[in-house]
Amino acid sequence: MKKYAVIVAAGSGIRMGSVLPKQFLLIHNKPILWYTLHTFLKSYKDINIILVLPAEYYDTGLAVCDEMNAAYPIRAVVGGDTRFHSVQKGLSLIDEESIVFIHDAVRCLLSPSLIHHCFEETQKFGSAIPCVDARDSIRLIHATGHKSIKRSEIKLVQTPQTFQSAILLPAYQTNYQEEFTDDASVVEAAGYEVHLVDGESNNIKITTPLDLAIAEELLDPPQFSV
Ligand code: C5P
Repeated sequence: MKKYAVIVAAGSGIRMGSVLPKQFLLIHNKPILWYTLHTFLKSYKDINIILVLPAEYYDTGLAVCDEMNAAYPIRAVVGGDTRFHSVQKGLSLIDEESIVFIHDAVRCLLSPSLIHHCFEETQKFGSAIPCVDARDSIRLIHATGHKSIKRSEIKLVQTPQTFQSAILLPAYQTNYQEEFTDDASVVEAAGYEVHLVDGESNNIKITTPLDLAIAEELLDPPQFSV
């Protein structure tokens, strides 16, 4: 089965408080995006990568691609105003039956075994959505106050969210809704059930300076030598 990875890297990263979008910040002298691409390329030699980039940093993104040793050329496209629109732009380049990973570029700590597991589960179930348990207590805010809800009923959702193209491509032929913060929500809105799999506690979305410090500690440069 053909494999595509749509790596969404078109966000501006204002929560990090830096001018440079977080996917281009350096850890051990390599951009965060470099680690993410490296892990996908290491997972499958025959993977087709589509990289979604901000218009203002398009050349910066292409320069990162040039450093990778990809068997198939990494294709790049300019993203949109929201993650949903960026994914839509990436998917517009896929026109064959395949298994498609959609991954946040800023989750550079995922492992090849998570990618393999998502692929295998998607072959069996049509999709694979990595999730981890919530560790904090949870409160739901409503119009008149807030209430405690059962932590055991909560899952925190990660990427790569993985789908058979026959499900994903038609589901994304829809208009944007505010609830579409990930791909599972888009596919569910199209009437499909999604299949949850175990994610990884290390697979954090680098969002704040603290996350960056954690990633710096966890990323082991020798393991990433090409
Ligand atoms: O904004 P959020 O943290 O949900 O972003 C998750 C991923 O989606 C990031 O890798 C970011 O670069 C990407 N993104 C995008 N286009 C946008 C917004 C976010 O590709 N317009």
